[in-house]
Amino acid sequence: MEHHGCILLVAVASLLLASSSWAYASAGTDTDHRGLMQFRSLITDDPYGALASWGGGNASAPCGWRGVTCGARGRRRGRVTALDLRGLGLSGSIAPSSLAGLTYLRRLDLSRNNLTGTIPASLGNLTSLTLLSLTSNKLSGAIPGALGTLQALTGLYINGNMLQGSIPPAVFNLSSLQELVVQFNNLTGTLPPDAGARLPSLWLLSVDSNRLHGTIPVSLCNASKLEVIATMYNPFSGVVPDCLGALNNLWALSLDFNELEANADSHWGFMDSLTNCSNLKVIGLAGNKLGGVLPASIANLSTSMETLGLWGNMISGQIPQEIGNLFNLRIIWMNQNNFTGTIPASLGRLDKLGKLYLYSNRLSGQIPPTIGNLTLLSDLLLENNTLTGPVPSSLGSCRLETLSLDNNRLTGPIPKEVLLIGILCSKEVPTDRLLIGDALRELHGVKDKYKWIHY
Ligand SMILES: *[C@@H]1O[C@H](CO)[C@@H](O)[C@H](O)[C@H]1NC(C)=O
Ligand SMILES: *[C@@H]1O[C@H](CO)[C@@H](O)[C@H](O)[C@H]1NC(C)=O
Ligand SMILES: *[C@@H]1O[C@H](CO)[C@@H](O)[C@H](O)[C@H]1NC(C)=O
Ligand SMILES: *[C@@H]1O[C@H](CO)[C@@H](O)[C@H](O)[C@H]1NC(C)=O
Ligand SMILES: *[C@@H]1O[C@H](CO)[C@@H](O)[C@H](O)[C@H]1NC(C)=O
Ligand SMILES: *[C@@H]1O[C@H](CO)[C@@H](O)[C@H](O)[C@H]1NC(C)=O
Ligand SMILES: *[C@@H]1O[C@H](CO)[C@@H](O)[C@H](O)[C@H]1NC(C)=O
Ligand SMILES: *[C@@H]1O[C@H](CO)[C@@H](O)[C@H](O)[C@H]1NC(C)=O
Ligand SMILES: *[C@@H]1O[C@H](CO)[C@@H](O)[C@H](O)[C@H]1NC(C)=O
Ligand SMILES: *[C@@H]1O[C@H](CO)[C@@H](O)[C@H](O)[C@H]1NC(C)=O
Ligand SMILES: *[C@@H]1O[C@H](CO)[C@@H](O)[C@H](O)[C@H]1NC(C)=O
Repeated sequence: MEHHGCILLVAVASLLLASSSWAYASAGTDTDHRGLMQFRSLITDDPYGALASWGGGNASAPCGWRGVTCGARGRRRGRVTALDLRGLGLSGSIAPSSLAGLTYLRRLDLSRNNLTGTIPASLGNLTSLTLLSLTSNKLSGAIPGALGTLQALTGLYINGNMLQGSIPPAVFNLSSLQELVVQFNNLTGTLPPDAGARLPSLWLLSVDSNRLHGTIPVSLCNASKLEVIATMYNPFSGVVPDCLGALNNLWALSLDFNELEANADSHWGFMDSLTNCSNLKVIGLAGNKLGGVLPASIANLSTSMETLGLWGNMISGQIPQEIGNLFNLRIIWMNQNNFTGTIPASLGRLDKLGKLYLYSNRLSGQIPPTIGNLTLLSDLLLENNTLTGPVPSSLGSCRLETLSLDNNRLTGPIPKEVLLIGILCSKEVPTDRLLIGDALRELHGVKDKYKWIHY
């Protein structure tokens, strides 16, 4: 019997050992469990019953719950490492400290729901986070400076909410950030002068559709991984930095509808600089306060250029013949400026060109017949210039869906080939006007290219 007792003791001891390590794991699991239940407690509407599976089994890890991913080994084993509840129509708010205990959380995606209230500062406790996405909710209030503690964060997506106040300086301390997307909020304030130098890994900077002002920081040129800079629809002012050519990977520079200026040739230095960017596809400068003469160097931009948006400024000078070298151009918006000279015949070489908007300038001379070579051209808007001579019959390609020639000094009849556009394509020729509204819609078309930003 004594013998047995001894064996029993050993067995109990090893059981105790086992259960203490189990208790250790389960304490963390309980924290995760409790935190998630607390999170659920403030969800007021769950139209698809997405969280119905939550809470099953009081001692069980939440690993099987909808949207929850757990770690498989080491300290992360059984602990929540990802919470992905995107697009589930959830209403309610994020319970203030509910998620703060999910110590091992690496990805938190609550995007495309209907969450209201503020972003809890306690998210700053989730120091393992690499992705935080709160895209497309109805969150309000300020961006908590506590997010500055998330040093592992590579993607911060808080776009499409109603956030106010400035972007906290601490956000620019997130030196691992690759994607900073705060577009479509109500943010004010400026970008810090050294923003670019502090975010060396950034490739996507999207601050568009806010109320940010001040200059576009020159330090962005130090963020050498930048591929996309989007500041559209903000009152940013000053001149465009003339060092952007340092950004070898830049493919979209979208600065439309800001208050950027160019009053002297030197203010156009950025265009010379941009000729260094061999991957550049998009330049958007529409709706700014750019004046002065368009530099000829525009024709030396990369042949990867696809979209050139300069409309709605006060730019003068001529459209250089050499623009015909940019053979990948699909869209040219140069309308509503002060361009003079003739329409370059070389445009007829841009065989991918779909839209050519040159209306409301002071262009003169004839419409080059070579335009008729552009078989993909759907919109040709030349109204409100001082063009002379006949309408070339070569324009009679059915691809052309919108043609406007009004308010010029064109002579002679409209060739029947061109009139056929109207008959065969069921469009009126010439359209008596194409309103700014249409061009705006087009611009939003370009913005659709950024769909991937919205996840
Ligand atoms: C866990 O649930 C069981 C029944 O499902 C119950 O008997 C037990 O008291 C619960 N334990 C705790 C700690 O809530
Ligand atoms: C969001 O919540 C509001 C009420 O707070 C409701 O009227 C609306 O339908 C919800 N929208 C979605 C997409 O669930
Ligand atoms: C979050 O961290 C702060 C300290 O930074 C601490 O005071 C607070 O208790 C933590 N919150 C939670 C819910 O863990
Ligand atoms: C940013 O980091 C630096 C150095 O780590 C620190 O001194 C500074 O206080 C931080 N700024 C903010 C706003 O968190
Ligand atoms: C933005 O904030 C201002 C006040 O700061 C407010 O008047 C306005 O309604 C807000 N706009 C949106 C879209 O939330
Ligand atoms: C940015 O880079 C330039 C040289 O490319 C350097 O002179 C400057 O100090 C850098 N700025 C910062 C803030 O690091
Ligand atoms: C553009 O490239 C040239 C030659 O590689 C270089 O001398 C010049 O400084 C660059 N400009 C900018 C703004 O990076
Ligand atoms: C364009 O590039 C060519 C060849 O590099 C150069 O000779 C020319 O001066 C440049 N033109 C402008 C306006 O920069
Ligand atoms: C257009 O240019 C002419 C002279 O070239 C100038 O007189 C006029 O003010 C300019 N118009 C605008 C709107 O900039
Ligand atoms: C025609 O263009 C001029 C110069 O850009 C502009 O002032 C005028 O308003 C335009 N007229 C129409 C009808 O668009
Ligand atoms: C382009 O159009 C012009 C005039 O319509 C014509 O003479 C020329 O042959 C065309 N070029 C090509 C490459 O189609």
